Amino acid sequence: MDFTQAQMRAEKLREQLSYHSRLYYIEDNPEISDYEYDLLSRELRALEKQYPQLDRPDSPTHQVGGQALNTFEKVPHEVPMLSLQDVFDTGEIRAFVSRVQEGMPEALFVVEPKIDGLSVSLEYREGRLVRASTRGDGRVGEDVTGNILSIRSIPHRLSGAPAYLEARGEVYMPRERFLQLCQEQEDAGETPFKNPRNAAAGSLRQKDPRISAGRGLELLVFNLQRIEGKELFSHAESLDYMKSLGLPVNLRYNRFSEAQEIIEEILRIGEERGQFPFDIDGAVVKVDSLLERVRLGATSKFPRWAAAFKYPPEEKETVLEQVEIQVGRTGVLTPTAVFSPVLLAGTTVSRAVLHNQDFINEKQISVGDRIVVRKAGEIIPEVVRVAWHDPRSPVYQIPGRCPSCGENTVADEDGAAIRCLNLHCPAQRLRGLLHFASRDAMDIDGMGPALIKALLEKGLVRSPADFYTLEQGQLSEMERMGEKSAQNILSALERSKGQDLSRLLFALGIRGIGARAAQLIAARFGSMQAVMQADVPTLAAIDTIGEVMAKSVEDFFAVSENREEVERLRELGLNMLSVRQPPSGQLRGFTFVLTGTLPNLTRDEAKQRIEALGGKVSGSVSKKTSYVVAGEEAGSKLKKAQELELPILDEAQLLALLEEKGEEPETEARPEDNE
Ligand code: IVH
Repeated sequence: MDFTQAQMRAEKLREQLSYHSRLYYIEDNPEISDYEYDLLSRELRALEKQYPQLDRPDSPTHQVGGQALNTFEKVPHEVPMLSLQDVFDTGEIRAFVSRVQEGMPEALFVVEPKIDGLSVSLEYREGRLVRASTRGDGRVGEDVTGNILSIRSIPHRLSGAPAYLEARGEVYMPRERFLQLCQEQEDAGETPFKNPRNAAAGSLRQKDPRISAGRGLELLVFNLQRIEGKELFSHAESLDYMKSLGLPVNLRYNRFSEAQEIIEEILRIGEERGQFPFDIDGAVVKVDSLLERVRLGATSKFPRWAAAFKYPPEEKETVLEQVEIQVGRTGVLTPTAVFSPVLLAGTTVSRAVLHNQDFINEKQISVGDRIVVRKAGEIIPEVVRVAWHDPRSPVYQIPGRCPSCGENTVADEDGAAIRCLNLHCPAQRLRGLLHFASRDAMDIDGMGPALIKALLEKGLVRSPADFYTLEQGQLSEMERMGEKSAQNILSALERSKGQDLSRLLFALGIRGIGARAAQLIAARFGSMQAVMQADVPTLAAIDTIGEVMAKSVEDFFAVSENREEVERLRELGLNMLSVRQPPSGQLRGFTFVLTGTLPNLTRDEAKQRIEALGGKVSGSVSKKTSYVVAGEEAGSKLKKAQELELPILDEAQLLALLEEKGEEPETEARPEDNE
């Protein structure tokens, strides 16, 4: 291969590698196996070795797992990443506008929302993203290239770009993703991030870009820092230009010349702040002309050509109607304020958590009071203070008895939480069962709150093991449940029996053991039997599992009822082993479509067996489908597969493929815990 051919091939390989690594890491939908990926990567490495001129710092060969590593190395900013002068009233905006107009009466100003996230700089050389760094102290930041490359909307390359371009933007976590992440963290027993800004900061600080990639960060560019090879005259023009190159640019920017118009726009943005998918904490007013910006200059901290108007957090007054007590899975009683609905930062809210008795005492909160509420970090409603106290009403006291079972409650040693210790408390039962069936635990599809409540009320289910004794007849008699849904639930239950030990451990709801801790414990011990016999020092020796968690595991299995429950689950056929993924998931990257009726296998069985080897089963045929498995009376999907010339398998061929890819020929028996 001569140099030109090598160059073309390297280019093609880079494109393929970045496409597949994106599918793998970001979209979680790989099209090729790890092995095939490795082959491509090896070929590129060989070319780069043969022709060192082809080697580039942004090549996938210098990246780990398809992503550039974050080095967190210090990065000096050639153009300082200055901060903004904050202003809090419209008078200061008028003063700022007049100051600028003194030197340039015709000045134009751009007004933009001020996104509440973290400032980063993106450097593109010859159109390639070569470095992304945090603001740091404005003079020196840290290299976070890997994490920035994992943000979907950030182009790794810009088409038609100039020799050099440095853009500055804000990394943020969209509000919706933040709420989802909080839920995930709570489910895992972790402390959730306080607000989207903290969540974005925490995610950007991850060493491993794969973790960051899963956090769903976004970035919007709001300033052109430096450019070589292109002349631009105004800020608006530079934003349009960066947008045309494919950069995600802060979309709302309007130009004005009068202070009054500027103020109106600032107030408009303020009114609409709840409608942005991200938090904003102000509006930025900037001089549009780039030449004028140079003339105005900067202090050591702020440019003199911009100002940030900060909105006060929106607060509303309302009436506290009642305090509801929620009993959590571990028996903790949490008071929740229920108040007359108010519109706050774009959404209607009527509830806020009151945390604990100390919080209530400190603010002297009583039912009937007029309270002031706001959204903490624009998201989570909180009670700020009492505005008017109802003199007839005493300060609210968390009841000494559990509202669900009526048993006495006790305060934790540190006094922070009040708990119901009754293991048979219906509220705890309900929460425990919900947790057991939840997506991150046993993932029993269709087993939601309404059904679990009804099953509890009918006395059909008291503990998780009872789920697995349910019969078709019992389920189909439940309200809003037909034969078909009952069958689906039974299949989901059946499927869940094979879940890995780590999920089962998590599902048991051992206090303080989140999904991650459960994974570590399962990986260390391999079987339920071994976990149950483990002592505190051995458990605590696992990285990140401390004494408290270790003790909690030991305490859990010291309770005979818990041991009996696990025994029942084992007898009912649940997997008690930490089954590793079959050797590298032999069908990983392959997508199957099942159509028609197979002679022996049900669809669910076929699906389960394909998925057990890492394959995916999809509902529709496309170019990306690897195999179509067709049974009798296969219809349009088969036709489409034929049109697309996809490989079509019958049941026997599917079974042969499964066997070839590592499935044991007789796989009916579940792996037994034989320790
Ligand atoms: S302009 C030299 N525009 O706010 C450029 N900043 O409090 C100065 N920010 O560090 C920044 N949205 O991280 C600008 N539309 C916007 C912004 C914005 C958010 C952040 C930025 C800056 C901080 C200053």
